[in-house]
Amino acid sequence: MPRLPQYDASKAAGDDGEIREILNQRAAPGGGAAIGYDNRMANRHFGNLGDIWKHLPLGDVLRTVRPDRYWESHAGAASYPLTHSANRDFGVYHFLAHASAEPALGQSAHIRLLRELAGEDRVPAVYPGSAFVAMWALLDRPVRHLYCDIDGESLSTIAATAEELGLTAEAVECVEADGVGTVTSRIQTLADDEAAGGTFLLIDPFHITAANDDGVNSLDLFAAAAGKGVKTILWYCARTIDEWERLRSDVSTALDKSGIDESGLWRGEVELLSMSERGFESPGVGMCGLLCANLPDEVIETAKRQGEALAAIYEDATLPCGLSGALAFHESCACRT
Ligand SMILES: C[S@@+](CC[C@H](N)C(=O)[O-])C[C@H]1O[C@@H](n2cnc3c(N)ncnc32)[C@H](O)[C@@H]1O
Repeated sequence: MPRLPQYDASKAAGDDGEIREILNQRAAPGGGAAIGYDNRMANRHFGNLGDIWKHLPLGDVLRTVRPDRYWESHAGAASYPLTHSANRDFGVYHFLAHASAEPALGQSAHIRLLRELAGEDRVPAVYPGSAFVAMWALLDRPVRHLYCDIDGESLSTIAATAEELGLTAEAVECVEADGVGTVTSRIQTLADDEAAGGTFLLIDPFHITAANDDGVNSLDLFAAAAGKGVKTILWYCARTIDEWERLRSDVSTALDKSGIDESGLWRGEVELLSMSERGFESPGVGMCGLLCANLPDEVIETAKRQGEALAAIYEDATLPCGLSGALAFHESCACRT
């Protein structure tokens, strides 16, 4: 693996020339153990539509918010070897092929990262996970990163990628433990100004209602973080209409129970319009959404434009099951319904 310079705060991050060099080294065949992750990985859903409606807004949100602390409760791996599958063809490959048709996508941080990873090739050799998206978006700042996952192998790819990107070991903490409990505890240690001013949390579980040994789940974590003023995104998905109904009810119940002030919340969802049709088979997700707390208006505006643009590039898409792959984008500030 190439030795790369340590983090140097005096360097303008966003120095794309240097990043490209690093990323090309990463993407080179046989370039090192941290390049992507193999098929034993804990997260097998990478690169599907759900990842696009997560990583697409995330990069730009972070570039605008510029937090001092970036935390993830369910981090996954830094990157994944990008190969074709029906769900990835509908997800990242469709996005790569059509993003330039919409300025909100063609100028996004996410497409820029994917193009950096691709280098001279049309498509990248790896798909970046949220940790990579975040470290890359925040490379110009002395950010303290915290990545939690119960899968140590996924975390080891984050540590290796951080090193390749020139981040010091002190700047990137990887915790192999339940992320809901770990982050809940960390939130309690934050002073109010640290929480509201400079902390950003991504909660990205497989199941938002899966409780840890203390009976705390990702919705509880979201409510605790949001209530403390932390800028927070919770990603969720459903594969069927029934699942979506249950999910709505779970979110409403959790928000009611928390007594959280709804004025700081925003929700952006993409929905496959053929989800309720006979023969529908989910390409990983039938719908997915971002429940967001304490984000500035300009960030929400950008995410909204990206959601609408995503719907535009899927207008004529076809699902792997043969039905229409058209999407609707919905946004709402009333998150309890
Ligand atoms: C959806 S994947 C994360 C994807 C990643 N955030 C991304 O966007 O690239 C969910 C991850 O949660 C991890 N996980 C499952 N239960 C967990 C728990 N209780 N605490 C922390 N991580 C957990 C899994 O190992 C998996 O890597």
